[in-house]
Amino acid sequence: MRPVLKKLHRLSGLSLSVFLLLHLTNHLFALAGPSVHIAVMKLLRHIYRFPPVEVFLLLCVLFQIASGIFLIFRAGFFKKSFYEIVQVISGLYLSFFMINHVRAVLMARYVWKIDPDFYFASGVAVRYPEKLFFIPYYTLSVVSVFAHIACAHYVRRIESVEGDLSTSSLPILMKKFRRESFGIFIAGLIITVLIMICFTGVLYPL
Ligand code: HEM
Ligand code: HEM
Repeated sequence: MRPVLKKLHRLSGLSLSVFLLLHLTNHLFALAGPSVHIAVMKLLRHIYRFPPVEVFLLLCVLFQIASGIFLIFRAGFFKKSFYEIVQVISGLYLSFFMINHVRAVLMARYVWKIDPDFYFASGVAVRYPEKLFFIPYYTLSVVSVFAHIACAHYVRRIESVEGDLSTSSLPILMKKFRRESFGIFIAGLIITVLIMICFTGVLYPL
């Protein structure tokens, strides 16, 4: 049962990652200014707002949260390694973030009747006192995605060599896997800083 759920979590996570790749690249276009960000978002909306794609994406968000929480309860949290604990904590933050974030975007579109564009996201990250909440809220979302993927990468790399290795080569490989995961995390930190300097008005006045 658990391997099936884990596989489905990975598959759904992969679909979400394709969206996230587009979504975070879109946010990086804010480095060239809000109008470029908005123009790129308008283009990308043809893909992810296409109804069958959007329904699938929103179902993946729901499934990711439900399956992730289920995996935590089945995983025996306290018996876990550092990597698995970081994976659980980042997963829990992503549950909290995705519920709030997707709710806010859908409320903007269907209830408040406003366009959830660059200024919708940046407004709350520059206005006082809202920014006290929203700057860490957005920052942690991007950091958590990369921490989660880095930990998944490490755990899966170990699993892929376990069993067919002599014990002497394991520590060397573990060091290599740690370096790879650390690289993913550092790349994530750089992307986070680049996105956040745009949305908080550091790069240009908002
Ligand atoms: C952006 C959304 C997410 C993506 C892309 C994602 C992706 C992944 C991937 C690729 C794995 C590795 C699966 C494997 O080893 O086969 C994983 C594991 C895991 N994820 Fe997520 N995940 C996301 C959100 C969540 C959420 C919201 C939770 C909820 C708390 C969560 C909890 C977990 C847990 C506990 C594991 C470890 C499973 C185990 O080893 O037993 N994830 N995730
Ligand atoms: C890294 C974690 C993030 C995840 C998992 C995520 C996920 C999502 C999802 C699922 C949607 C709904 C797409 C739709 O069907 O319309 C969305 C929309 C949106 N997100 Fe994010 N997001 C993340 C980070 C951010 C950040 C850091 C910002 C800005 C600071 C942001 C700004 C927006 C905006 C403006 C929309 C509306 C897009 C549109 O209407 O075209 N997101 N996000």
